[in-house]
Amino acid sequence: MNAILGVGGGIAAYKSAELARALMERGLRVQVVLTPAAERFITPLTFAALTGRKVITDLFASGSAEETLSSAIEHIAVAQDNDVLVVAPTTADLMARLARGHANDFLSTTYLAFTVPVVLAPAMNTNMWMHPATQENLAILRKRGHVIIEPEEGILACGMTGPGRLAEPDRIADIVASLGLKLHDLEGETVLVTAGPTQEPLDPVRYISNRSSGKMGYALAQAAAQRGARVILVSGPVQLPAPHGVLFIPVHTAAEMRNAVMEHLGETSIILKAAAVADYHVSRVPQHKIKKTAMRMSLELDPTPDILAELGQKKGDRLLVGFAAETENLVAGARQKLESKNCDMVVANLVNQDGTGFESDQNEVVLVLRTGEAIPLARAPKREIADRIFDQALKLRLALHAAQ
Ligand code: CTP
Repeated sequence: MNAILGVGGGIAAYKSAELARALMERGLRVQVVLTPAAERFITPLTFAALTGRKVITDLFASGSAEETLSSAIEHIAVAQDNDVLVVAPTTADLMARLARGHANDFLSTTYLAFTVPVVLAPAMNTNMWMHPATQENLAILRKRGHVIIEPEEGILACGMTGPGRLAEPDRIADIVASLGLKLHDLEGETVLVTAGPTQEPLDPVRYISNRSSGKMGYALAQAAAQRGARVILVSGPVQLPAPHGVLFIPVHTAAEMRNAVMEHLGETSIILKAAAVADYHVSRVPQHKIKKTAMRMSLELDPTPDILAELGQKKGDRLLVGFAAETENLVAGARQKLESKNCDMVVANLVNQDGTGFESDQNEVVLVLRTGEAIPLARAPKREIADRIFDQALKLRLALHAAQ
């Protein structure tokens, strides 16, 4: 696996030399890119000697127009040749530039040309880290699906104590290497994910829906795509951009979702039903807007098609993962759902009784498996939870095949 190690201009830049070595010890080929500020803290020669490769330092290499042009094109080639981009230390300034999409040096330009996983290890003074501007940039970068290795607490170069110290190089390298092992473990699979709520119309202007944000489903689609799967994302209406490189099928109602899922069932090997499908709908939606009267009114609702139950019947040897949102008896409820809908795994999510938590970027779940196990996953960003779900799903499939 080939990695680009981008080094920002901070005191912790010296630790990047250790990181380059730690990455190489784990079997990665490392191409180092220094920002102009990084060069003030550490020389390209150090990295060239460690990696045995030319270090890239400048977007507009001084020299002829021809040299400048070839340097400008080089960032695209570098981006295409590599499997992961690691930026350590990611300084406050780099975080801001990456978050906003600036392209004013080789590293930020390469970042924009990159489609593969990005790992950022920030390091800076505690106050800079805690500043709302940095925290906002962090939220943007996290939302983009990048792996963020948060700085550790400790005594900083400036004498302050608090969060800001670059994570240990060995820890960063372990995380990058584990990503690398997984990069292609879904290759050859077609993963179907449903996400978001459904909207069931009451009349031409009103509908029944729920609070689902779609974030968990989109994180799953993104994780599957990054691990090499072909991904089909069937999504109800949400405020999220479709992840890069997936077949995106937008739907509104449970019936539309059911049809889209069944149409693609034949192609899929793993199905994750993260969508919060409305359980009821109005069968005959009036053509005109319902008028207000002084009278009490009641709605007559019919059940929507239970997509998960139908998939349970038709799944064959596909891996079927259902989701359960419960306000009590989490594991028992999930196990019951697993049995009744013939799932292989149910991702059980404890929702607050006031209904909050759906919009969160984080999640805490229990994976209830067909083998009888219940695996709690500690609170973590949804993108990380998505990876743990795929880790367990692949293990589970091996276990189920072995048991046959
Ligand atoms: N689901 C579905 N089709 C429906 C309703 C739900 O496919 N019409 C799927 C969801 O995508 C999810 C799972 O069923 O994977 C669990 O849904 P949940 O909200 O827990 O509700 P119900 O299945 O309706 O169960 P209950 O109301 O008994 O909790």
